[in-house]
Amino acid sequence: MAELKYISGFGNECASEDPRCPGSLPKGQNNPQVCPYNLYAEQLSGSAFTCPRNTNKRSWLYRILPSVSHKPFESIDQGHVTHNWDEVGPDPNQLRWKPFEIPKASEKKVDFVSGLYTLCGAGDIKSNNGLAVHIFLCNSSMENRCFYNSDGDFLIVPQKGKLLIYTEFGKMSLQPNEICVIQRGMRFSVDVFEETRGYILEVYGVHFELPDLGPIGANGLANPRDFLIPVAWYEDRRVPGGYTVINKYQGKLFACKQDVSPFNVVAWHGNYTPYKYNLENFMVINAVAFDHADPSIFTVLTAKSLRPGVAIADFVIFPPRWGVADKTFRPPYYHRNCMSEFMGLIKGHYEAKQGGFLPGGGSLHSAMTPHGPDADCFEKASKAKLEPERIADGTMAFMFESSLSLAVTKWGLKTCSCLDDNYYKCWEPLRSHFTPNSRSPTEPK
Ligand SMILES: [Fe+2]
Repeated sequence: MAELKYISGFGNECASEDPRCPGSLPKGQNNPQVCPYNLYAEQLSGSAFTCPRNTNKRSWLYRILPSVSHKPFESIDQGHVTHNWDEVGPDPNQLRWKPFEIPKASEKKVDFVSGLYTLCGAGDIKSNNGLAVHIFLCNSSMENRCFYNSDGDFLIVPQKGKLLIYTEFGKMSLQPNEICVIQRGMRFSVDVFEETRGYILEVYGVHFELPDLGPIGANGLANPRDFLIPVAWYEDRRVPGGYTVINKYQGKLFACKQDVSPFNVVAWHGNYTPYKYNLENFMVINAVAFDHADPSIFTVLTAKSLRPGVAIADFVIFPPRWGVADKTFRPPYYHRNCMSEFMGLIKGHYEAKQGGFLPGGGSLHSAMTPHGPDADCFEKASKAKLEPERIADGTMAFMFESSLSLAVTKWGLKTCSCLDDNYYKCWEPLRSHFTPNSRSPTEPK
C-alpha cells in the first residue's frame, strides 16, 4: 500500500480535496445551491452551534450521497459492549489482567466491532458525562461494515497488529506505539492484518484537548504539529442493500443497511476530524535535580470535566527517558489517589513491576486503593547507585486516569478469565526496615 498522506497540526481548521476531483470544495461558502461535481453538502457538528470559538467544532463534508441515505436502524446483538456499571458489585482491590486473549482466525472470524469488550467505566451516557475502557480483540477486517459512536470519542491504542482505518475524512494507518482519536459521529471501518489487540478510552460528551503547559511554556509534551489528520479520499462503490452501518447509541448497538460505501466524501473542510499521533514524538519533561514530578507531566491528551483541573480522563504515557534524580527513590512512589488509574502496556517492561504486568494486559488501581512498586523493585531501587540511567527503553506503558470511580464489568471480572488472582502477592514480601534507634547512615547529610 502506498504511504498515506496527512495534514499536520492539532485542532486546526483544515481543507482537503481528493486529487481526482480538483476544485471540489465550494469557494467562499459552505452550502451552494449546487455543489461542485454535483455533490451533497453535509455538516458534522462536534459541539453545540453556540460553543465559544475555542471549543467550537464542526466540519463540512462534500459527498456523493448524504449519510441519511439508509434503511432504518434495528437493534443488534450487543456482544460484550455495555454501559451497565452495576453488572457486578464494586471491588476496591488492586486488579491486574494477564494479556487479553485474541480469538484465533481459524476458529472464529472476529472484526473490530464484534471484538469490542467493555472492561470498566463510569458515568452516564444520556447526560454526556463519563467514560468507558474497552479492549478490542480481533482477527478479521470489517467487510462492508462501518461503525460510528453517538455517545462519545474513541481514543484507540493499538497494542498488537497494524490497523488501516477508513474514515469519512480519509485513510489512516496505525501501528502499535501510535494512537488515534475518532471523534463522536465519525464513521470508520478497520482493516487488520493479523490477530490484533488494543485498548480504547471512550469519553462521553467531551473532546480530547492538549493539556495546558503553564510554566513549561509554549513547547513540550505532545506538540501540536505532530498530530496528523487524514486527507480526503473517496470510493464511489455501490453495494446494493449490502453495506451495514453500526451505531452505538445510548450504549446499545444498532445496525442499518445502505446501498453505498459511506466513504464517499470527495472533499471536506473544518476542525472536527479524526487524528493520529506517534507516541515517539512526545517530548518528555521530568525532574532533573531530585524527587518526582507528578505523572501529570506525562499527559498526552486530556478530556476535561467542568471542574477546573479535573479530568473526565487523561491519557498519560511513560516513555523512554533519562532518570537523573539525585538522592531519590526513582521508581513511582507508593501512593493512594482520589483518581482511578487504568494502566496498559504496549510493549516492554514497566519499571515498577518487572513481572506480571505484561504487554496486552492491564491493571486498575481504583480511587484511594493503595499501590506502588513491588517488593523486589523497592529493594533494588533503595540500594541502586544513582547514576544517570536510561528508563523504559523499548517500553511504552500508558494510563487512562479518571476522576470518576470506575466500575468493572462482568466480562472484566469473570468472563475474560484473565484476572490475575495473585496480584496482591507482589506486595506481600514488603517488610519493615524501621530502625527506631538508628537514623539511617545512608541518609544524605
Ligand atoms: Fe498510581
